[in-house]
Amino acid sequence: MFRFRRLRQDERIRSMMRETRLHPKDFIYPVFVEEGENIKSPVDSMPGVYRYSVDRLDEILKRVKKSGIGGIMLFGIPAHKDEIASQAYAADGVTQRAVAYIRQSYPEIYIVVDVCLCEYTSHGHCGVVCGDRILNDETLPLLSKMAVSLAQAGADMIAPSDMMDGRVAAIRTALDLAGFSQTPIMAYSAKFSSAYYGPFRDAAQSAPGFGDRKSYQMDPANGQEALREIAQDMEEGADIVMVKPGLAYLDVLKEAALQFDMPLAVYNVSGEYAMVKAAAMQGWIDERRIVTENLTAMKRAGAKIIITYHALDMAAWLAEEENAG
Ligand code: PBG
Ligand code: ZN
Repeated sequence: MFRFRRLRQDERIRSMMRETRLHPKDFIYPVFVEEGENIKSPVDSMPGVYRYSVDRLDEILKRVKKSGIGGIMLFGIPAHKDEIASQAYAADGVTQRAVAYIRQSYPEIYIVVDVCLCEYTSHGHCGVVCGDRILNDETLPLLSKMAVSLAQAGADMIAPSDMMDGRVAAIRTALDLAGFSQTPIMAYSAKFSSAYYGPFRDAAQSAPGFGDRKSYQMDPANGQEALREIAQDMEEGADIVMVKPGLAYLDVLKEAALQFDMPLAVYNVSGEYAMVKAAAMQGWIDERRIVTENLTAMKRAGAKIIITYHALDMAAWLAEEENAG
């Protein structure tokens, strides 16, 4: 009889047989930067996550640096929001200032910046609004300006999350023209219209003021279409393509890994984090084991990069394991 259990007898052999191993470099940690001074404000629905003003970023950046993770993903929250998201591409916008500060003070930290208008518009939509419609082509120049201004501030990578059609091509062209042909684009390609973004919208103060995002983000029911979105972004010049959220969409991630010879990212989003945290705080689940299992599943399904609010905790747990030998 073949006995699978022969190779499961103890941790020495199990660790040799392990197919998927997490490493701190797998992770990107989202960081929220708010305009103002001396701010560290907790995000209620995301225990352990805070919004920082630029002058208090050191606290989190020191931890990032020590953790050895792959990088950070920045989200800016401006004081002033308007119809045309002017703070999204202002040279002295909060996000640009945060990038410049980190670039100067932490040259070793890899800075990815989320490019989208929703944190910067008065209506909270990811694009330019006319009446109750979200305009596509009118949004592209604003996203392009935002991407260029962030590259100028010192961003390493640009991550468009708006889901307008044609934005990867528009941003690629704009970056190239501005002299940033070496700046990679990580496209939120298969980004679903998901209730799992709820806590993020508290954190980033970016909930749409009217309607929803269903006319630009994907229908959660559509796996086939997700693959076409990914193929399209590859064609337009994306360097890395992303599936978002993670856990409920691992089938999409796996299928993309099988079909495309491309680096894949997955976003383990705010609602996934909130659910784990809430249950862990009640003592209903073992946080460390659950998080390890979730992130391992994402890597096993094909993710090269995992964007996760658990990044610093997971890196610390991995270091602990390493030290334990
Ligand atoms: C901005 C953006 C969102 C997220 C990443 N970029 C929110 C949204 O689309 O409403 C979600 C991240 C998370 O939930 O952790 N467009
Ligand atoms: Zn948006």
